[in-house]
Amino acid sequence: MKKGSVLVFGGAGYIGTHTVVELVGAGYGAVIADSLSNSEASAVEGVRRITGVDVPFEQVDACDEKALRGLFERYPFDAAIHFAAFKAVGESVDDPLKYYRNNLTSFMNLCSLMREFGRPDILFSSSATVYGEADVLPVTERSPRMPATSPYGKTKQVAEDILHDCCAAYAGMRGIALRYFNPIGAHPSALIGELPRGVPQNLVPYITQTAAGVRPCLSIFGNDYDTPDGTCLRDYIDVVDLARAHVAAVERMVQGRMKSSYEVFNIGTGRPVSVLELVEGFEKANSVEVPHKFAPRRAGDVPAVWADTELAAKELGWQAERPLEETLRTAWAWEKHLRGME
Ligand code: NAD
Ligand code: WQD
Repeated sequence: MKKGSVLVFGGAGYIGTHTVVELVGAGYGAVIADSLSNSEASAVEGVRRITGVDVPFEQVDACDEKALRGLFERYPFDAAIHFAAFKAVGESVDDPLKYYRNNLTSFMNLCSLMREFGRPDILFSSSATVYGEADVLPVTERSPRMPATSPYGKTKQVAEDILHDCCAAYAGMRGIALRYFNPIGAHPSALIGELPRGVPQNLVPYITQTAAGVRPCLSIFGNDYDTPDGTCLRDYIDVVDLARAHVAAVERMVQGRMKSSYEVFNIGTGRPVSVLELVEGFEKANSVEVPHKFAPRRAGDVPAVWADTELAAKELGWQAERPLEETLRTAWAWEKHLRGME
């Protein structure tokens, strides 16, 4: 018997596909709704191959209220997850309206239809970016949110506020925001993973493309930070571990175990890792070279941020499990799969 069913907006994307796999594995039904604006239908096929389940897929833009309403009418789901956002920080600075329109319209449409159809449970993809440059590390869920440094970051802060306010105002509505730190890696099957478009902005896709010879050399942005080796510190969370956090959060919502109508959890490992450590760890885990050089700092980077993970452990019963070395192996296996290597 199915435990319940989840409508997954942006479910064809990097984190969405991994989450659907874990939901199905945990006994949930799932429906993927995605505009394919930053993903491909083949990702849905990957999910179906891994799970052995013909997971329904609907190509829908969540900004299209009418189309969204059709999904609500057709599928009797219990909870919804919102991954359906644009996420390129630099692009959001160049074209803020694109980000405000897509990320917020899609989320407001979802909240308003959830209310109208009496479906109470909404899970939102937030980000460690809401903490900005924190004064105290690691950051806890009670750490102040600093002014966002990009329109992308602002969309995450505003969407958190929207969810908070809706859960306070509308009887029965419940929401959880998961603040992801730095998701990396891929499913161990190498059938799903991240699909960066153009030149990768994030570290791990840049590393894997450099190892594959697609990029000649990785630039490490800044080696004069006040950190042990001078490079920035981040909290790199395996995407499968991250996907499992969504299952834990959905269960908490649908089983009525929330302590208030709106909750926030950090989803990270709690372990800071430097850029240099990550590059060297990748080389060692995969016995492959990643040509790299030091370059000037990248504008907008915070020197260090990592999660306090106690609340997620205590309340969600979730913690990161996969060792970094293994995660870095899955990242390389996925890159090789994409390039048809081996
Ligand atoms: P992704 O781009 O791979 O996935 C997002 C998916 O949403 C894509 O398949 C895209 O086609 C779809 N989408 C976008 N706008 C849509 C719309 N209006 N209607 C329907 N579908 C739409 O990104 P991801 O890395 O899987 O990120 C998922 C979520 O997690 C995003 O909200 C992102 O902001 C958030 N997040 C990501 C990271 C990260 O580093 N990857 C970190 C923190 C938070
Ligand atoms: C990690 C570290 C870079 C590329 C971003 C978003 C954040 C969240 C996750 C969505 C930094 C360094 C990177 C390269 C490098 N996304 N780096 N050379 O900046 O921590 O977070 O993704 O919510 O909002 O800002 O991740 O992977 O870009 O960078 O040296 O070619 O790697 O300077 O120290 P970041 P990242």
